[in-house]
Amino acid sequence: MNKITELFKIKYPIVQGGMIWASGWKLASAVSNAGGLGLIGAGSMYPEVLREHIQKCKKATTKPFGVNIPMLYPNIEEIMKIVVEEGVKIVFTSAGNPKTWTTHLKEQGITVVHVVSSVKFALKAEQAGVDAVVAEGFEAGGHNGRDETTTLTLIPMVREKISIPLIAAGGIATGNAMYAVMALGADGVQMGSRFVASEEASSHPDFKQKVVEAGEGDTHLTLKELAPVRLLKNKFYDDVTQLYTKGPTIDELKELLGRARAKRGMFEGDLVEGELEIGQVSGLIHDIKPAATIVQQIVEEFSETKTQMSTTLF
Ligand SMILES: Cc1cc2nc3c(=O)[nH]c(=O)nc-3n(C[C@H](O)[C@H](O)[C@H](O)COP(=O)(O)O)c2cc1C
Repeated sequence: MNKITELFKIKYPIVQGGMIWASGWKLASAVSNAGGLGLIGAGSMYPEVLREHIQKCKKATTKPFGVNIPMLYPNIEEIMKIVVEEGVKIVFTSAGNPKTWTTHLKEQGITVVHVVSSVKFALKAEQAGVDAVVAEGFEAGGHNGRDETTTLTLIPMVREKISIPLIAAGGIATGNAMYAVMALGADGVQMGSRFVASEEASSHPDFKQKVVEAGEGDTHLTLKELAPVRLLKNKFYDDVTQLYTKGPTIDELKELLGRARAKRGMFEGDLVEGELEIGQVSGLIHDIKPAATIVQQIVEEFSETKTQMSTTLF
């Protein structure tokens, strides 16, 4: 038995990462219906919008699904209250201290998973009592750690130190990548970028198309002084790079970022001035597909790789 399928009561150990402006109820329910675990990304939702997404997700699937809550966002108390009121069974927390909410959520009978990008925080999450950890490497789309530890090195280092179930994230968009991280000690995978280029993602179609067109070297981790984030290079990214040549203060960086940049880019489709969060693996994503097809293909590729590897002789 696989620890992740057992923990969440799902068919495949494939989690669709919570993603601002991409993962609403449509994507989450599609992934859950396909046998993975879909997550609603609460980070871009006002509390009542989140409630609506949870209620719609409950109608769209009878399978388990969860909510991802980045703890740096405002309204966190209200978001946690809604999650409990709506009977959500699985919560993935990120971007904050795992100690803050884990005990409270667990007391409500909720399965809690925390997202980390280092061994240090994986240990903190385990000590805080979470049920599993997502370890996310430097390749990943969206916000990330400062240490630049890649998935290939992060997963075995975290595996060495923790004993709870481990989910690998960052750079995984194929079944053979899933096989690779499981060989390194992960019990399952979380994928973000691959699901942005899905029919059900709520991201703007122009952003999805840009993801499909992206190639190697088209993303970069920047804004480390605020909250490190991996972005597709565009005019906004160039403006940030230009500002860095002047040795900016934190306030100058904040001023350039302004408000609602991510919404503008990923939801409204402003590919010039918006913030476009995506992972390095976008270079391997060549089409926009239904989420169920993505899940099915990953599972098939994983099986093929398994057979191939078992017959490979050195
Ligand atoms: C557009 C986008 C938005 C994201 N938003 C969030 C978020 O709100 N909360 C979070 O914990 N992770 C977020 N992530 C990270 C994903 O959940 C996932 O861990 C990551 O994408 C995995 O790496 P990959 O992009 O290489 O698959 C986001 C990623 C992307 C691409």
